[in-house]
Amino acid sequence: MLRPKHGGNLSWAAAVAGCEPQELLDFSASISPLGPPASVLQALHDNLAVLLSAYPNPDYGSLRSCLADYHGLESEWVLPGNGAAELLTWAARDLAGCDRVYFLTPGFGDYGRSLRAFGAKVEHRPLAVDSLFDSGLSDLEVRAGTDVAANWGDAIATLPPLGPQDGMVLNNPHNPTGYLWGAEVVRSRLDQGGLVVVDEAFMDFLPPEQQQSVVGWVQAFPNLVVLRSLTKFYSLAGLRLGYALLHPQRAERWQQWRDPWPVNGLAAIAAEVALKDLAFQQQTWDWLPAARQVLVSGLRDLAGLEVYSGCANFLLVRSRHSCVQLQRQLLQRDQILIRDCLSFEGLGDRFFRIAVRRPEENQRLLTALGNRFSAVGSP
Ligand SMILES: Cc1ncc(COP(=O)(O)O)c(C=O)c1O
Repeated sequence: MLRPKHGGNLSWAAAVAGCEPQELLDFSASISPLGPPASVLQALHDNLAVLLSAYPNPDYGSLRSCLADYHGLESEWVLPGNGAAELLTWAARDLAGCDRVYFLTPGFGDYGRSLRAFGAKVEHRPLAVDSLFDSGLSDLEVRAGTDVAANWGDAIATLPPLGPQDGMVLNNPHNPTGYLWGAEVVRSRLDQGGLVVVDEAFMDFLPPEQQQSVVGWVQAFPNLVVLRSLTKFYSLAGLRLGYALLHPQRAERWQQWRDPWPVNGLAAIAAEVALKDLAFQQQTWDWLPAARQVLVSGLRDLAGLEVYSGCANFLLVRSRHSCVQLQRQLLQRDQILIRDCLSFEGLGDRFFRIAVRRPEENQRLLTALGNRFSAVGSP
């Protein structure tokens, strides 16, 4: 079986670990451990037979209006899709019409897949990932005005002006670092008409007052597309549900390119119920900062590992030793799966990524790592 390109490939990991997939503790996929929300499970249960046998409404009127309400927009500005990944495909088809597409690396591997599929002319701009670790600061501290902040902010601000024929893909917060760019930095790229696709798949993990979303500028800039996902925050990765916020004409064009029912009926109802589950949202915002902080502190206590404390529900870790080897050891001895970073351009075998999970699960990971790395300061 081939080494997977994405996190969450439990069949591959179970074969390496010699156990059943459900026996693994998966830190490789950045999916909330709190979900799916009970409200969603109940709605799926109550409507299962009807939703399985009927075609979904191809307009997705009710779902679109729910998503539009959530963002204070009209329905025609919303296009639901079979995960953000499906919408990325159509964004890439538009980006392929640009003279060049700026793409900050390392980045989520599916951008490469979709841009290549349509022959987009991609210009890679490497981010200084090591500088995040060398600063020893958290993301919020970094953004407060250190050299690293200038460096990472500059990665966007110093791109040549985006002419009408240019394009850009940006992921905020950034996978795999969890770095969060300020919304104004992104906004500064919109004036000259180039197509800007901002993937905010992990933005909802930040409480509303800390989010740096550019959704509020969608109506002012027809050249802006924002992609969002419900699969991570609500733990619905198997069901698949994402959406784009974009100009209605672009939404209509994308709609003509795809099949009539890209979102299945179960996913559509799940999304509507999930968006209304304010208690689940609050529970997530209460859990994440504390759980992440304990994990960060535990990792910082281990010699040979360095962690960057970003804003998302995952952490990027730099290791003095091979992470592929570590991944194999954790699988075989502890049945724990971490995400190697081989598929992230420029990272290689000295980085791994872990999701933040429930406190007791995070502790299991820290204990397993503690068996392999000595404590800081010990002989
Ligand atoms: C940055 C980023 N964008 C988009 C996606 C795809 O999300 P979805 O499950 O909604 O297709 C992922 C999945 O890992 C991701 O990491």
